[in-house]
Amino acid sequence: MERTLIRDVLEKVDLGATVTVGGWVRTIRHSKGGFSFIAVNDGSCMALLQIVSDGSLANYTHEIAHLAPGASVRVTGEVIASQGKGQSREIQAAEVRVIGQSDAESYPMQAKRHSFEFLRTQAHLRMRTNTFGAVVRVRNRICSAIHEFFQQRDFLYVHTPLITASDCEGAGELFSVTTFDPADAPRTEDGQIDWGQDFFGRPTFLTVSGQLEGEAFACSLGNIYTFGPTFRAENSNTPRHLAEFWMVEPEMAFCDLDGNAELAEAFLKHVVRAVLDDCRDDMAFFNKRIDTTVVRTLEEIVDADFIRLPYTEAIERLEMAGRSWAFKPQWGGDLQTEHEHFLTEEAFRRPLIVTDYPASIKPFYMYVNDADAQGRVTVRAMDVLVPKIGEIIGGAQREHRLSVLDERMAAQQMDLDAYWWYRDLRRYGTVPHAGFGLGLERCVQLCTGMANIRDVIPFPRTPRSAEF
Ligand code: 4AD
Ligand code: MG
Repeated sequence: MERTLIRDVLEKVDLGATVTVGGWVRTIRHSKGGFSFIAVNDGSCMALLQIVSDGSLANYTHEIAHLAPGASVRVTGEVIASQGKGQSREIQAAEVRVIGQSDAESYPMQAKRHSFEFLRTQAHLRMRTNTFGAVVRVRNRICSAIHEFFQQRDFLYVHTPLITASDCEGAGELFSVTTFDPADAPRTEDGQIDWGQDFFGRPTFLTVSGQLEGEAFACSLGNIYTFGPTFRAENSNTPRHLAEFWMVEPEMAFCDLDGNAELAEAFLKHVVRAVLDDCRDDMAFFNKRIDTTVVRTLEEIVDADFIRLPYTEAIERLEMAGRSWAFKPQWGGDLQTEHEHFLTEEAFRRPLIVTDYPASIKPFYMYVNDADAQGRVTVRAMDVLVPKIGEIIGGAQREHRLSVLDERMAAQQMDLDAYWWYRDLRRYGTVPHAGFGLGLERCVQLCTGMANIRDVIPFPRTPRSAEF
């Protein structure tokens, strides 16, 4: 079934050409003179294509006159200049085939504004709305910009496993992968579940990050990136957390924290610029309907030099801010959402790369700095914070010294033997290396201005929600 995309009909095709388009009816208006205006969308752009359908068409009375919003149609006709307001071109239909009729009464995507909460209950149809069509298109552009960026720099795109035996972030937020029947799992003599009899012969989980395997690639091949879904059984019902989200994780050999921060800044700017340049209609929509500052925020990100700020100075800055915080900023504590907002939106008004966090709040794999004059120990971590979102990227220079790594793992009660292969990377040709992870959905939020992360992934997975 060959067809022309509506975007091309509106922008490329010559006037007078005959085209066939396919799409879903948004609105339909019957005129007294015995003809109808059918507004159709096919997902290729935000705009609707108006189809003028004459009463003389063979199926006019029994089909076209009964068309309902949501129906799918295939239309062949001539591209003509439009007389009406709001569009420059329309199609004078020679044929309107009704492929799948709809039901005007029960169709959930009526042409009125729906709340995002309601639309979440209709995730399978919400892609037909302006907002979600635009989100999906922007998300697509972000993904292609991600590959562009790394491919232009000769990073290899590698694939890391989704099923893993290790907890990369050490936060214990793992979903188990098992074939056991929970009611009837085999037990050992002392009554514990006997994982030795499970599919993999050991406990396994959905991965929280591809980093550890990414390091193995980088420590053989140089610069790599992995880009895939990750899973966290994090019971946090916030507008920034999903249980299943996509992460881009570059890893670079012969690289330290400065090189890592430079790459992260160039990367984020590249992605944002691609969206501004190539998603103009969708961005105009977001800027008008969703967040009237989103385009300006993105332009500022592209133009600004990101601030580099050690964690210790960030805490001092917060302490000096002279406000009453819900969580008092304190050396040794995590930066809270309110702190991130203050730093990016008030204190510096631009993206920030916060580095060198206390070792005690970061995972085992980060490079350990020498203790400071007060004996405080930090690691070469970096978080990129952006206005409105807060943390969008988390990364670090990795600990490449085996003895230091072993000490940290032991201090965190980790089983060193289970990570034998990860430790091998330090035993055979160890090299300073660094990398980071960008949360794709947080990036889509940043670019679209959408307030809730559940509305930038088509089928969100959050606590107590996995319909569809
Ligand atoms: O800071 P995180 O936990 O870092 C890592 O996973 C490292 N292993 C990455 C690396 O160095 N290769 O996560 C990275 C990013 C966060 O900055 C955030 O944007 C996103 O992933 N993220 C989430 N996004 C949505 N829902 C969640 N539950 C997320 N947790 C992290
Ligand atoms: Mg993080």
